[in-house]
Amino acid sequence: MEAGDEEESPQPTAMGRFQLSEEYGFLLPNPLTELPPSYSPWMDIAHELPQLIASHQLRARIHQMPQLNTQQLQGREELHLAHLVLSFLTMGYVWQEGEKGTVKMLPHNLAVPFWEVSQALGLPPILTHADFVLANWRRKDPSGPLEIENLEPIISLPGGESLRGFILVTLLVEKAAVPGIKATIQAIHALQHHDDELLHRALQGLSAAIGAMDKALQQMHDYVDPAVFYTVIRIFLSGWRDNAAMPHGLLYEGISEQPMAFSGGSAAQSSVLHTFDELLGIQHSQESTAFLHRMRDYMPPPHRAFIRDISLAPSLRQHILSSADLRLHEAFNHCITALADFRSHHIAIVTKYITVAKSKAGQEEAGSIGKPPAALEAKGTGGSHIFVFLKSVRDSTREGLISA
Ligand code: HEM
Repeated sequence: MEAGDEEESPQPTAMGRFQLSEEYGFLLPNPLTELPPSYSPWMDIAHELPQLIASHQLRARIHQMPQLNTQQLQGREELHLAHLVLSFLTMGYVWQEGEKGTVKMLPHNLAVPFWEVSQALGLPPILTHADFVLANWRRKDPSGPLEIENLEPIISLPGGESLRGFILVTLLVEKAAVPGIKATIQAIHALQHHDDELLHRALQGLSAAIGAMDKALQQMHDYVDPAVFYTVIRIFLSGWRDNAAMPHGLLYEGISEQPMAFSGGSAAQSSVLHTFDELLGIQHSQESTAFLHRMRDYMPPPHRAFIRDISLAPSLRQHILSSADLRLHEAFNHCITALADFRSHHIAIVTKYITVAKSKAGQEEAGSIGKPPAALEAKGTGGSHIFVFLKSVRDSTREGLISA
């Protein structure tokens, strides 16, 4: 927060300060798709990633890659693209041979630049939600709309159309959240200025945005095949912390003598629900809070700072509790119900894409599509105990309802 800004912040104009865009929210606006020509050794491999992994050649190609100097990368856009590319190369390198053929060490020609770019951005040296989704999109027709038919990921992993769908549907949920982020800022502005009319409108805007996110989430069913997600895609999002397949972590050669542990990519690292939880004053259990707060370390620092600012703002919940305005009570409760419903529908998706897909994969001939990772049976790619965690988070959301 800037000096003299305390009374006013955060306001819509403050979005830029957190590298948040009015149009794109937490998404990186129109991400770069190419690095300067001297980085073609990275880009050439990145563009062939699915084929190199399928033919088991990726590790050999990475061993031959020159160690490039990151000093020539200019500005945040290039750094974000470099992080995206190097994180995908790293996931491919580690998981190319499945959970039984992992590596202990990331070679220096990948580890050193990845570390440097990560330091420059304040991101961990592993694939994050910010890489996988927020920075990983382009329009096919540059003047066309931000809709699934006109979008494609910049960099891919194995999984074909289902991988594309998984990335882009998640992106559409982030897009649907944008009016909700604006409504959050508006709600805090209204609280600071004791403007209950504006607060009421902001809460209505927030519940509508959460409803739109829920609708966007349902498109997962149309675009992502559960068997492909479970047996092919999931392992490439896994990390080397809380993962029995890599109990000792990963040694980043040329960076540290000791292996390091990082959680895998998960939408638990999306800043959207963290923002809404903070605004609505949702109290999660100690264990769930610890996990969710750890996931904040995997967000771009400006987004983390934004969530922190929301958490430090005057309490919406206290204001509603002390207000006699029943319209406000109702609008607040609509937000809570919409958020709990979103989380229930997300649990249904997780059940379909993990639990049901797992039992089907077990019935089918082993290895017919791919061998699903056993270490990930009960754990999320972020490392949580999936259903205990997700249900606790959904139930504590419901407990946020205010009685009349
Ligand atoms: C096939 C689709 C999906 C699957 C299988 C899935 C799976 C999971 C799992 C296992 C977790 C537990 C945390 C971990 O260890 O990673 C999680 C958390 C979470 N996921 Fe998903 N997810 C999917 C799609 C999405 C989408 C599209 C979103 C929206 C952006 C999303 C938002 C979240 C959030 C916010 C959390 C943290 C828990 C919460 O705040 O409720 N997920 N997901």
